[in-house]
Amino acid sequence: MIVDRRNLLIGSASTAGLMLPGVASAEAAGESGRASGVGALPMPAPQTALPEALPIEDPSRISLDLGWLFHEGDIVPPPPADHHATYLNAKAGNARGAAAMDYDDSDWSRVRLPHDWAASQPFVETANISQGFRPRGVGWYRRTIRLDPADRGKTILLQFGAIATHATIWANGSIVAHNWSGYNSVEVDLTPFARFGDELNVIAIRVDAEAMEGWWYEGAGLYRHAWLTVRAPVALITDGVHCDPRKDPDGGWRVPVEATLFNVGRDPAQVEVQASLLDPQGRTLATRRAPLTVPALERAVASVSISVADPALWSVDQPTLYTVLTQVLVDGRVVDERRIAVGFRTLRFDADQGFFLNGQPLKLKGVCIHQDHAGVGVALPEALVRWRLERLKAMGCNAIRSAHNAPAVEFLDLCDRMGFLVMNENRVFNPAPDYMAQLEWLVRRDRNHPSVILWSVFNEEPMQGSEAGVEMVRRMAHAVKALDDARPVTAAMNGAFFEPINVSSVVDVTGFNYYQGDYDRFHALHPTRPITSSEDTSAFETRGAFASDSRANVITSYDTEAASWGDTHRKTWKAIMDRPFVAGGFVWTGFDYHGEPTPHAWPTIASFFGIMDLCGFPKTAFDIHRAHWVDDQDVVSITPHWTWPGREGQPVPVLVMSNADEVELKLNGRSLGVVACDRIMGAEWTVPYEPGRIEAVARRAGRVVATAAHETTGAPVRLRLTPARTVMAGDGEDVQPITVDAVDAAGRHVPIANLPVTFDVAGAEIIGLGNGNPNSHEPEKGAARSLFNGLAQVIVQAAAGKGRIVVTASAPGLRPARLAVERLDRAAPRYAPVLVPAQPILGWRRSPALAQRPDPSLAPTDGDNNSWAFVRSGVATGAEPMRNWRVYRTAVRPWRAVAQEGGVLQFEGLSGQASLWIDGQATPLIDGVAAFGPGAGDRRITLIIEAAAAEASGVTGPVKLKARR
Ligand code: GAL
Repeated sequence: MIVDRRNLLIGSASTAGLMLPGVASAEAAGESGRASGVGALPMPAPQTALPEALPIEDPSRISLDLGWLFHEGDIVPPPPADHHATYLNAKAGNARGAAAMDYDDSDWSRVRLPHDWAASQPFVETANISQGFRPRGVGWYRRTIRLDPADRGKTILLQFGAIATHATIWANGSIVAHNWSGYNSVEVDLTPFARFGDELNVIAIRVDAEAMEGWWYEGAGLYRHAWLTVRAPVALITDGVHCDPRKDPDGGWRVPVEATLFNVGRDPAQVEVQASLLDPQGRTLATRRAPLTVPALERAVASVSISVADPALWSVDQPTLYTVLTQVLVDGRVVDERRIAVGFRTLRFDADQGFFLNGQPLKLKGVCIHQDHAGVGVALPEALVRWRLERLKAMGCNAIRSAHNAPAVEFLDLCDRMGFLVMNENRVFNPAPDYMAQLEWLVRRDRNHPSVILWSVFNEEPMQGSEAGVEMVRRMAHAVKALDDARPVTAAMNGAFFEPINVSSVVDVTGFNYYQGDYDRFHALHPTRPITSSEDTSAFETRGAFASDSRANVITSYDTEAASWGDTHRKTWKAIMDRPFVAGGFVWTGFDYHGEPTPHAWPTIASFFGIMDLCGFPKTAFDIHRAHWVDDQDVVSITPHWTWPGREGQPVPVLVMSNADEVELKLNGRSLGVVACDRIMGAEWTVPYEPGRIEAVARRAGRVVATAAHETTGAPVRLRLTPARTVMAGDGEDVQPITVDAVDAAGRHVPIANLPVTFDVAGAEIIGLGNGNPNSHEPEKGAARSLFNGLAQVIVQAAAGKGRIVVTASAPGLRPARLAVERLDRAAPRYAPVLVPAQPILGWRRSPALAQRPDPSLAPTDGDNNSWAFVRSGVATGAEPMRNWRVYRTAVRPWRAVAQEGGVLQFEGLSGQASLWIDGQATPLIDGVAAFGPGAGDRRITLIIEAAAAEASGVTGPVKLKARR
């Protein structure tokens, strides 16, 4: 079938006959580690060890993932009521509403990052289709941070991996950042705003997730990590080390290290910058130093170069990493450092022969991916990102396009370690300063990653065939080159290839999205322009379904259905493989994603394009690509499964995919024929259905090298839980997906089971659930999920500490499953402490010094901003001769608990003789503590302080209003 993109209706063009291909689950010869011993579950066997933790690159930062309070929905304070309020509204530090330092957030919910509030939303027909029918809206986050007084004078930063989508950030009542993209990181320089010790810092963030930057599910909120970074006064800036190795024309290697520093101090700083190259075992190979002067409040750059003889190369099969350790020394002492993983490798795109890695041709066997996953939306912990990459690796995939935006930095760290090549894509096509800054940020952040081989400035832009489009790309490519002269620039074009003016003239590599029929003509016309498919395929499959049902929005998985602009997996790859000058391809997409339910619409909430479904369960396409892409193993698979009750005697199309020479199909021991195996198109049979065992035998030079089989299963009798790993890290961060399926009396996976399942978990927490059904509206949070065509997934996050996790799964009429997973000791990351602050009393006004004890009702006249000082608690005021009296006044709106039950007013520092009035009533103040009666609304607090002669006096510490409990 073919889909017409304009109206997104399934047409009726059909493939010849019934020779259709489909999904498979290999047994003996399947994916390496595929669970042959667990009843042909189409998933890998559990790993038995923890993966290595990612090394710490920047020791100056600690995690800010914990301790956030969240409010869903906007909070709009009324406009200022009068002139005085308007005057104050315009002043630094005076944010109002939920951005105010003393806003009552005591009923907000506590969340941990990464956090995507859209993932908890129900599916709503009137919400945006491309975003997966989930309302997004506006949300607020707040967090209180305590800074050590010893950190005064240091550089203090808040860092957010990304915020979806438009964010305004306040620190201590002042706006410190506006950020207009959901994909770039946000850094806030807290240094000038910081408060120390018991004077706490309040961060407030308003996130407007109504804004859309894409046409896919983009999530909502603080969906990547956040960090609190405290650096020496003179230190490396963020992304301030560029150390990408270079091969010289004479064959030698060197690591040019360029380090950018900033100095927050008051005087120029003299430092030494030292760069060392460490080998994969951590041994220092060479060290270089350079002196540097960094002027106050300015940047300075130090450059050194390290030569290396004969380093081990980085490749997709052996991703060997070295480390560049860059240190800043003041008086010989290290005050700041970064550890950056680097790889020695060369890359080249050739107009005739495609891509070369380390001088060897390498076809890009790539997938495009969006960043979301079942259950968690876009808030993916690293362990889940790693698991998804493992799934791609198992398929022989060697390249990934981060479509169509900057990925999380942890994703690239993992690609470096696991051996993937990344086409790193910019989001907004626009060279105006705000957007150019986003592109430049991307290059600066990612230019050391050996995995990154290509910068993409855009995806499918209608201006690609215009003069303006060319001028825009020219500027953006130029900006990229200014920061990184080692990687080519591409643009993912969908047409305009033959317009007299088009952007292929100003990029290094022309990216073809679809338009496979134009490869040859373009190559003939521009024989010196390298080409890659930047996006292709857009084929549709519903995992585990082998017949389309257009009324139920189900699409068959025989690799016959594709968008009108794309093609089947097999035909697409054939077009790429037949042409050495096409560097490779990027299948749309590696995984299904929420949103863009093409070719369907409501009630479908997710895409059909994935080689794997939303949970990472394989579709037929997975086996197809394994046969295409895996070279170091013999693989064979059979589509479909062999459990078709009621279809006895009816023809069933069977597709066998293999990378061997020939395959034989057997049904219940009888040979159905031996055929030479076409590695790209596979081998097809039509088999009258007969229950039993269907088996594919793959041979090379007559020798059996791999087999795959399906057996007809009986009714499901019990559930089964299969983890990705039998152990988890007890660092409070680790997560893993657990597969649940139903098995028959013989312990075999039942591929047609669709049963409601409920889960119970101890020693861990469920952070999301899914089953890969793009039509399911079951919530992705909670503790229940139905099997869809035999499978569901529950994603758990381990609790902290050594111990045991026990997961049970139950379904009506079946024996429950119980799974125990060990939680091993692993140190938790360093987290910024979580505080539950009391209400701060702010906004003090202080009278001039008075010669006599004043009346406590003394106040500035309305609107007088100039006679009484605005003071922050924490500062004493100098003495004035013969005038020892001062009045301090403020008003406070008590937070909920105090308003209802009363509380305690606490002055943590008072100097001088103080008397207190609350709401005009004299109130005893003993050791800085006073009772505060219940009552909502504005409450007046007045102090009269008499200074001892010639001594400073005042409110010298924080003032807090505490609930009784
Ligand atoms: C492409 C586009 C992708 C996705 C895909 C679906 O044109 O770049 O983002 O929309 O089509 O086929």
